[in-house]
Amino acid sequence: MDLEARFERTIASEQRVEPRDWMPEGYRKTLVRQIAQHAHSEIIGMQPEGNWITRAPSLRRKAILLAKVQDEAGHGLYLYAATETLGADRADLTEKLITGRQKYSSIFNYPTPSYADVGVIGWLVDGAAICNQVPLCRTSYGPYARAMIRICKEESFHQRQGYELLLTMMAGTDAQRAMVQESVDRFWWPALMMFGPPDAESTNSEQSLAWRIKRDTNDELRQKFVDMTVPQAEKLGVTLPDPELRWNAERGHHDFGQPDWDEFWQVVKGNGPAGAQRLAHRRKAHEDGEWVREAARVHSEKKRGVE
Ligand code: ACO
Repeated sequence: MDLEARFERTIASEQRVEPRDWMPEGYRKTLVRQIAQHAHSEIIGMQPEGNWITRAPSLRRKAILLAKVQDEAGHGLYLYAATETLGADRADLTEKLITGRQKYSSIFNYPTPSYADVGVIGWLVDGAAICNQVPLCRTSYGPYARAMIRICKEESFHQRQGYELLLTMMAGTDAQRAMVQESVDRFWWPALMMFGPPDAESTNSEQSLAWRIKRDTNDELRQKFVDMTVPQAEKLGVTLPDPELRWNAERGHHDFGQPDWDEFWQVVKGNGPAGAQRLAHRRKAHEDGEWVREAARVHSEKKRGVE
């Protein structure tokens, strides 16, 4: 059997493609693109909440938030490691991120001015991430699928800590309830945008679905997220800011409005409210770490006896 037929059979029979297997160049490139964007999102995603670590209102909240932000760093590292199994170079990917040549999720370009944002990011942003990432545990590339299993377990903790924080705030004062609602109003539409553009504008979906890299379309996952979130919002006592949101008994799903897709594309292009700040922060962290990389390089050369 030729290599291409063997690859197609692996995909069709739900086996995993492994690093040493032959794969089409387009498959490899698509994976590097998606996994690198995913890794960058985890790393940039440390910033919006990292903002609140020094100001968390109690030791318990601080410990939870620290653990969560450290988890995001770990997710980034598993994912960069997965790209390396495809021949990518992590230093090169970092360079592409900090020079704006590779994307990361639009959601992390929104600021977090309120402490309620920590809860809302856990509930909505990590909730959306879980919806999108649980199917990726069955993605066709082995190292990515295995990384996703561990990541999803940790994302589930992130979602729960966010929801629990919001339940606590909603049982507090009127001012705390208003903070939660204000944050939900800001994050609802950007959370829906996390699933990517509508299917008709999703340039990569068709091929990624055929290769079983993606298991569902962007709109399918967005619908799943809305259906999952509406009862949680009711229990919490917040209003989702969409006048078109209602149950459609015929479809067995909620109908809902469309996010502002012009805003989405602007944010993806780097013009989001906190876009420049996020990249500048990452760039500075990278530059500040130069002495560590240099020391590691000199140390390894010394060990190898290079003068
Ligand atoms: N933010 C930034 N860019 C996006 C987003 C988004 N929310 N959604 C889509 N895009 C980009 C795509 O990367 C693509 O650009 P490219 O071709 O230059 O790479 C373009 O918009 C068109 O979109 P699609 O064709 O639909 O892209 P794709 O098939 O890759 O689907 C999706 C996008 C759903 C995000 C997919 O890549 C995916 O599932 N990725 C893994 C999950 C992930 O990255 N999550 C990160 C956020 S969650 C977290 O970190 C907590």
